[in-house]
Amino acid sequence: MRLMMIWFGLAFLVAACAVNEMPEAPEGRALFVENCAQCHQGDAKGGKKWPPALGRAPPDLTGLYARGFDRASVLSTIDGFTRAPLEGHEMPEFGLFLGGETVPIEVDGVLTPVPRKLAALLIYLESVHVE
Ligand code: HEC
Repeated sequence: MRLMMIWFGLAFLVAACAVNEMPEAPEGRALFVENCAQCHQGDAKGGKKWPPALGRAPPDLTGLYARGFDRASVLSTIDGFTRAPLEGHEMPEFGLFLGGETVPIEVDGVLTPVPRKLAALLIYLESVHVE
C-alpha cells in the first residue's frame, strides 16, 4: 500500500512538472499557424495577401523589437487586453489566449505569470525575430 502511494506521488510529480514546462517555439508556431497566419502569413512576415475586409496589410512581425515594441506591448497587442479602442485597429482581439495555465515570463525585468498560449506565441515571435 505504502509503495503504491509513493508510486502515485511520483507519477503526480512527474505530471505536474511536465505541465509547467516552458513553452517552446514549435508550440507557439502551431498556434500561430492556426490563428494568425491567415493575416500575418506562416512566416510572420506580414501580408502579401490578406482578407479583403481588412483595411490595411497586416504588418511584418519579425522586426517588432526593432520597431520599438517590447514584451509587454507584444503581449497586450495579442490579447487585446490593454489595446485602446482606436479607430483603424483591424486586428481581432485574442482574449481567448487568456486564462488556463500560466508560465513565468520576464516582462520589464519582472517574472510575470502569463497564460501559456500567449507565452508560446511570444516565444515563437521571438524565434523568428530579426534585428
Ligand atoms: C484578421 C487579420 C489578423 C489576424 C487573424 C491577426 N492579426 Fe495581428 N495584426 C493585424 C493587423 C491589420 C495589424 C495592424 C494593427 C491593427 O490594425 O490593429 C496587426 C498587428 C499585430 C501586431 C502589432 C504589430 C504592429 O506593428 O502593429 C502584433 C504583435 C500581432 N498583430 C500579432 C498577431 C498574432 C500573434 C496573431 C494571432 C494570435 C494575430 N496577430 C492575428 C491583422 C491580424
